[in-house]
Amino acid sequence: MKFPINDIVTLLDERLEFNLAESTNKDLILNEIWDDEFSKELKNLKLEYGTSKGNKKLREKIGEKLNVDKNQIVITNGAVFGIFLSMLCLCENGDEVITVQPNFPPSMDLIEGLGFKRVLIKLSFEEEYQIDINKLFSLITNKTRLIILVSPLNPTGTIHSKEEILEISERLNNQYPNCKLIIDETYREATYGDNDVIKTYAGLRENIITISSLSKSYGTPGLRIGWLQSSDQKFVEQVGVAKTNTVISNSVLDEFVALKVLNKEFEILENRRIHSITGLELTKNWVEQNNELVNWTEPKAGALCCIKLNEKRFAKDNIEEFYSLSKAIGIQIANGEWFGEPKRYFRLGFGYLDTEKLDFTLNKLSEILIKATTNKVNSFEL
Ligand SMILES: Cc1ncc(COP(=O)(O)O)c(C=O)c1O
Repeated sequence: MKFPINDIVTLLDERLEFNLAESTNKDLILNEIWDDEFSKELKNLKLEYGTSKGNKKLREKIGEKLNVDKNQIVITNGAVFGIFLSMLCLCENGDEVITVQPNFPPSMDLIEGLGFKRVLIKLSFEEEYQIDINKLFSLITNKTRLIILVSPLNPTGTIHSKEEILEISERLNNQYPNCKLIIDETYREATYGDNDVIKTYAGLRENIITISSLSKSYGTPGLRIGWLQSSDQKFVEQVGVAKTNTVISNSVLDEFVALKVLNKEFEILENRRIHSITGLELTKNWVEQNNELVNWTEPKAGALCCIKLNEKRFAKDNIEEFYSLSKAIGIQIANGEWFGEPKRYFRLGFGYLDTEKLDFTLNKLSEILIKATTNKVNSFEL
C-alpha cells in the first residue's frame, strides 16, 4: 500500500507569510477560552487513556448540536480520521470507493493508500461544481461500499442540495443497500456573517454517515478533534473497535480543550463569521477588479473559493510565472493540482489572515496577475 505524494504537504511544512492557501478560519488562541475554571481544571486533568468512542461529555455536546443521541457519535482525530475509519470498517480487498474531484486530497488518496479501488466523479468549474446524479450512479457497481461527498466542498465552498443528498441516499438504499454515503460536513458551520448555518445531514437516513470537526469553523485544526456520526449502531461499534486498534483513544487533553471550545461555541463562531464575511467581500471586490484576468465560483460556506486564471490571458508559461512570482514575495497559493484540478485553478482562502493582511496580499496578487501576463508570453499551448 502506498499513499500518492501530494504537494499539499507544503501547507504544513513550508508556511509562507502571506498565506492565501489555508482552508481554516482565523486560528483560535487558547487565551480566547482561558479563564480561572479552565486553569483549575487543566491543572487537575489526569493524563489517562481516553475511551474508545471518546469523551462522554464531548459526545453528548456534539449529539446536542446534531440533534442525535451520543451513541451515534465517535470522536476522531480530526475529520480525516473519521473518513479513514469508515473506509477501514466498510471495505474489503477489491472494494471500490467513489468520491468527487476536486476534493480535499486525503479523501481521494486514502482510498488508494488503503488499497481499495478509487473511482472519481469529476465536478467542473463551468457547472459550478454541481453533481450529476445519473452520472454518479453509472459509476456504482456491486463492489462500491462507500461514496464520499463533501458539502460545503473544499476547495470550492459549493454545496449539494438536501434534495440531491436525499435522492442519492434513497436510490442507494433501493439499489445498493451495501453502500454507505459519507457527507463530509467539515465546513458546514463556517458560514458568513448572519447567513443561516447549513443544516446537518446527521440522523436523516441510516445509510448516511456524517463527518465533521472543530478544525475549520472554529479555527482549531491543531486540536485534532473531529467526529463521525451514524445511526447504524453496528457500524458505530465497529468504528470504536477500529479506533482502539489504531490509536487506542483521542488525547484527553485535546478532548478537554474541545469541550471548552464548544462551551464558547457561540462567541467563537460569531467572531469568525464576521471575519469571514469581511474576507469574502474583499475577495469579491478583488475578483471584480481583476475580471479580465480571473473568474471564480462564489462559495456558499467555508472561508475558501476556487479562482480560475483566464484562458485568454494565461498560457502555460504565464501560469508558471504567476506561481513563481507569488512564491518569491511570500504569497502562498493552493494550486489546483493539489485537489486534482489543472494549475489554471487555485484555491483562495480568505478566512485565515487578518483583514489588513488579506487586503495587502490581494493587492499584491493583483500586481502579480498583471506581471505574469505581461512579463513573458512565449507560448500559448494549453
Ligand atoms: C473537506 C475536508 N474534510 C476533512 C478535512 C480534515 O479536517 P480535520 O483537520 O478535521 O482532519 C479537511 C481539511 O482540509 C477538509 O477540507
